[in-house]
Amino acid sequence: MKKFPQGFLWGAATSAYQVEGDNVNSDWWQWEKDKGIQNSGHACRHYEFYEQDFDLAKSLNHNCHRLSIEWSRIEPEEGKFSQDGLKHYINVILSLKKRNIEPIVTLHHFTNPVWFGRSGGWENKKSVACFLRYCDFVCRSLAGNVRYWITINEPTVYISHSYIFGVWPPQAKSLRKAKRVRANIVWAHIRAYRLIHKIYKESDIPGPSVSIAHNMMAYVPCTQNMKNRFAAYFRDKWFNFGLLDKIMRQQAMDFIGVNYYSRQLVDVEKWRISDLVMDVCKKDHHPVKKNSMGWDIYPEGLYELLLKLKKYGLPIMITENGICTEDDNLRWEYICSHLKNISLAIEKGVNVTGYLYWSLMDNFEWDKGFVPRFGLIDVNYNTYIRTVRESAKKFSATCNTGVLE
Ligand code: BGC
Repeated sequence: MKKFPQGFLWGAATSAYQVEGDNVNSDWWQWEKDKGIQNSGHACRHYEFYEQDFDLAKSLNHNCHRLSIEWSRIEPEEGKFSQDGLKHYINVILSLKKRNIEPIVTLHHFTNPVWFGRSGGWENKKSVACFLRYCDFVCRSLAGNVRYWITINEPTVYISHSYIFGVWPPQAKSLRKAKRVRANIVWAHIRAYRLIHKIYKESDIPGPSVSIAHNMMAYVPCTQNMKNRFAAYFRDKWFNFGLLDKIMRQQAMDFIGVNYYSRQLVDVEKWRISDLVMDVCKKDHHPVKKNSMGWDIYPEGLYELLLKLKKYGLPIMITENGICTEDDNLRWEYICSHLKNISLAIEKGVNVTGYLYWSLMDNFEWDKGFVPRFGLIDVNYNTYIRTVRESAKKFSATCNTGVLE
């Protein structure tokens, strides 16, 4: 039996583009259209059905919910802000508050307005100012009802997929561009952090709690040779802690938002920089259970990362953790084993304040489309009927009591 601290935040996360549907002014929408690939279409129609979805979250004893705001709905044309777009999100937040569910609001979750993408996206120096103008508009209107803010979701994942591997828009494969984008995004976060604090101060609203949602992975050497050990150490230092250290130096974080899913089994062939950074074991030398996209399930990795994060002395919120699977028993096993590891870390003095499962419901999994099923709630994409999964009910018992049996 594991008992979690009083006041622990229990809930699930979503992102606007993945659940809302019909985000026609977003660069992802434009990209899907241009490429003729699977269209996110109506997604889960959460834009219409959010009340019903929050009823379900409430019935599952969630006391918090992470959502994102679609920038392209707020600012569909450069500099022209939509009052209707804003009104919608005010209603969404109020609808959570009405149910006593704490909103955790993400300002950027992988998607940009079309106009922003067309003007060079995050490569453009102006991107930081554009992002801040949008943050200012949103934050001034929501401040009174929101305490937790995530400025940018998974900067490292966004940068690698969009500017290094070239699999997401704008499909660049350029280290030079990636470097520039990283600098702009980090700066955008730091400035947004300061801006949010300033707005709260000016409005006399008690302090906000601001972070990023940072993707972290366990890097495990496949065999204990020098190359593998060095590469695992290097990746951990660079991908897990590089960005955090940079932001910490600017004191631009009130808590650490951690997204954790899996491990990487590091198996390096040569002492080349590309191998050291990317090579993985292709032979499955240390088999573990996997999700339906083939990612290893490795809950102990979360424990180890949490212990390493302790040095920053900040509260830590698990802003995403989840599994796509057709096997709902495995989903519960996944949740349970990760919660156990979180609890072990808490026993070791790590201040973990919340756990958000990814995701509340099945949704649009980016370039993988609708096949991967991450949801606590099943979505029928023909009828849009929601069905609560057994794993969600088991999780709800823990949300209710704060105890994992
Ligand atoms: C992202 C989500 C995504 C999930 C599962 C995270 O990296 O924030 O948008 O759906 O992982 O792949």
